[in-house]
Amino acid sequence: VPAFNGFNKAPDTIEEAREQARHCKACPLWEPATQTVFGEGPPDAPVIFVGEQPGDQEDLAGHPFVGPAGKVFNGALEAAGIDRAQAYVTNAVKHFKFEPRGKRRIHKTPAVSEVKVCRWWLEQERELIRPKLIVALGATAAAAVIGKTVTIRDTRSRLIDLPGGDTKLLVTVHPAYILRLPDPEAQAREQALFEEDMGRVKAFV
Ligand code: URA
Repeated sequence: VPAFNGFNKAPDTIEEAREQARHCKACPLWEPATQTVFGEGPPDAPVIFVGEQPGDQEDLAGHPFVGPAGKVFNGALEAAGIDRAQAYVTNAVKHFKFEPRGKRRIHKTPAVSEVKVCRWWLEQERELIRPKLIVALGATAAAAVIGKTVTIRDTRSRLIDLPGGDTKLLVTVHPAYILRLPDPEAQAREQALFEEDMGRVKAFV
């Protein structure tokens, strides 16, 4: 991957990538955000989970999936018998995008342009880790991995071959989608389907 994003040298290690990304100003999201939330996990992880972007709690903590969506994610991993520490967990966009509303910061979906620019970091992570499987949590993550818009409906739960290597892709829903369902029965149903998808991931860790 050629150097870009204001850095004249592509990183050789995940640690170097993380350090570079700390200073990234390639899109406007860096300014209001507290910090870059880079991916975390072993540099030789067999599986990379990709979310959308850090939320309020992730922005403050500097770690991915530590807020409410992270709880749903952790629960599904546990149900499937997957140790989160064995996986690399990251996001398509590495800064929190929000709209201030009183004292609260309301999550805003990243623009296509922001996903595109930030994709460079995701590609560094992929290239350096070379996982057996990438799990896209939601449509934004799937689009960032594949490089074009896809629907969850058309891609969910199948193992998709990614071009140029041995990495496969599994697309599932974003855990925040489950949280947002107003009907508890629908929520339980979606939770079970999400856990089933994590069961498919288990074979790779
Ligand atoms: N939602 C995401 O997509 N990623 C996080 O890290 C937290 C919430």
